[in-house]
Amino acid sequence: MNLREIVLSALLCAEYSVSGAELAADCGVSRSAVWKVMEQLRAEGCEIESVPHRGYRLVSHPDLFCESYLKQAVRDCRTDWQFRHFKELDSTNNLAKALAARNAPSGTVVIADRQTAGKGRTGKSFYSPAGNLYFSVIEKLMLPISDMMSVTACTAAAVFLALEQFGITTQIKWVNDLFLNQKKICGILSEGSFNAELLSMDYLVIGIGINLRHDADCPEELQSIITDLETETGKRINKYDLLIEILKQLEILLDEIPTHSYLDIYTKNSCTLRHTVRTDDGTQGIAIGFTEDAGLIIELADGTERILRTGSATVID
Ligand code: BTN
Repeated sequence: MNLREIVLSALLCAEYSVSGAELAADCGVSRSAVWKVMEQLRAEGCEIESVPHRGYRLVSHPDLFCESYLKQAVRDCRTDWQFRHFKELDSTNNLAKALAARNAPSGTVVIADRQTAGKGRTGKSFYSPAGNLYFSVIEKLMLPISDMMSVTACTAAAVFLALEQFGITTQIKWVNDLFLNQKKICGILSEGSFNAELLSMDYLVIGIGINLRHDADCPEELQSIITDLETETGKRINKYDLLIEILKQLEILLDEIPTHSYLDIYTKNSCTLRHTVRTDDGTQGIAIGFTEDAGLIIELADGTERILRTGSATVID
């Protein structure tokens, strides 16, 4: 760990302030070396106050990746979360899949500041400018392939709960989107490698993209469809604080897949249920519930039911 990482981590973890003298002594460097790092962090956008006789206090900070702070924040988790951060990737899911295929452990989290070829469900692209949270988690859960949709739905419930911790109540649109004020703020894409012999997944990659910041360059065709947390709530949620909360919730809810208990949260906060929806093949009906594996139950005009497990359901009324 370099001095910048140690100092940043100490500032982020401190309840109030950190002593420059103690930091210098712990790291075996001079106080002026610590002061220089403070100046560097200020140049990177941190607001650091000098508190007489106490040291330095972090007042505000931009979304700076700090592995040791993240490790400290998730120290009580059962999962040994491992963080890999990149300024730019084509897609965090692509790298996570490549790493998983080369035996990266369960709990690996791949984060990118921006994606040049972010992927959505059903072959769509996911617009991924800088400022937002894009990450993929490798999970080796040995789940049957029939649970793939549950993984996506369960992740949506985990993101919902994480956002609630920041005072933001979203709605879940079947199967993988979170909405705020009728616009999309989060998408989830689960992928994996199927083991034909064991009839289960070798590994899963769960990719999550959340729009945090207002994007002045948002393409016109997306402006009526997507939004971001800053625009809708006026809050600038720190990217990594949100990541930590999502990982904590995800760890708990993934365990609930076999019992389907996560479906309670999913159902209560759905903006698809009780609405008329149209499927990709043009079928229309009312969304009346979810199956245990997160399929969408649609009641057709003739009273029969259809269960949707792939594609999308557009809410039309
Ligand atoms: C969708 O909207 O259909 C799903 C979008 C999923 C986007 C996330 S961003 C992180 C991860 N990497 C990707 O390429 N996609 C997912």
